[in-house]
Amino acid sequence: MNSRRLEELLGIEHPIVQGPFGGGLSSVALAAAVAEAGGFGSYGAHIMDPERIAELVADLKAATVRPFAVNLWIPQPGERDVPGDLARHVARLQPYYDEFGVSAPGADEILGQDFGVQAEALLAAEPPAMSFVMGVPPEWVVAEARRRGIVTIGTATTVEEAVAIEAAGLDAVVASGSDAGGHRGAFLRPVTESLVGTFALVPQVADAVSIPVIAAGGIADGRGVAAALTLGADGVQIGTGFLATAESGASAAHKAALHGPEAHITVLTRLFSGRHARAIPNRFVREMAAFEDEVPPYPVQNALMLPIRRAGRPDYVNLWSGQAAALTRPRSAKDYVEALVAETEKALGGRA
Ligand SMILES: Cc1cc2nc3c(=O)[nH]c(=O)nc-3n(C[C@H](O)[C@H](O)[C@H](O)COP(=O)(O)O)c2cc1C
Repeated sequence: MNSRRLEELLGIEHPIVQGPFGGGLSSVALAAAVAEAGGFGSYGAHIMDPERIAELVADLKAATVRPFAVNLWIPQPGERDVPGDLARHVARLQPYYDEFGVSAPGADEILGQDFGVQAEALLAAEPPAMSFVMGVPPEWVVAEARRRGIVTIGTATTVEEAVAIEAAGLDAVVASGSDAGGHRGAFLRPVTESLVGTFALVPQVADAVSIPVIAAGGIADGRGVAAALTLGADGVQIGTGFLATAESGASAAHKAALHGPEAHITVLTRLFSGRHARAIPNRFVREMAAFEDEVPPYPVQNALMLPIRRAGRPDYVNLWSGQAAALTRPRSAKDYVEALVAETEKALGGRA
């Protein structure tokens, strides 16, 4: 029997969070549709500059009066340094640039956004909630969010990361199992030492912290939601399932791949961004497999891949996906939330 403390914290009806999608795959329509259906919508803003972040929060507030979260990535040490051997990394991708008739980005185009400036803009825009991945936000961000009444949500891939997030004063924690789609958010140990599956992670995190726990990774239907609640989670965060809905920003080819013959095959790869992320393997992943350990770290590899991504060829773009992709199907976000609620009640057999 779960309490309704997550619903109360977030001001929602159902303990179902639509996970944020960075890299342009979130949409205002998706976050708003989930919020309007009684779930919790999110928007991944890590590539946005401060002006875009302010506009985004205004757009979300115009689209729904219900609560939602905007998500940022915590920067890693050295992330804003241009590598000395950039030319070598460009040369590795040159055959692809040539094939698609595009140019490599210049050294001045490869750095990501400045987190401090993004966080200031987001705090000033006062979204109902801010969520974070890849680390613990600095103290000033947590304090200012609290002062402004903004709920804060961290993301943990291990028990020790969940404990660190609670100790930093965040209001809730996403326990993100290695089944999940998109980037791994490990920040205390290397990703390869932080690959705990959702089923093992959730009950251990629930035992270790007293803030609400949101289970993420491999949950795509009501059976998964019921299992997560049974394991001690207060709610779930679903990514891939919502990526498959009509309102998501994923391309038609990406959505088709989520239901395609290879949807049950996913790999963790650094090849698209320089940071481990789970994707459906395609031709690019297979051709470049030998360079998994050699590509430069995020955000450099991510920037080097942008011209190739913009060419939009499914064989060469990142088809991010979690391990439960084959359980998803195309439909509206509203229909999906309603189905999740009905299936969960059925799976719990009146225990909800
Ligand atoms: C395309 C894609 C992009 C994602 N981008 C982010 C992000 O920017 N920030 C974040 O905290 N989580 C991100 N995630 C993780 C999701 O929000 C969610 O936690 C995860 O997808 C849950 O696992 P599932 O895909 O098995 O449902 C992303 C996931 C996907 C599939």
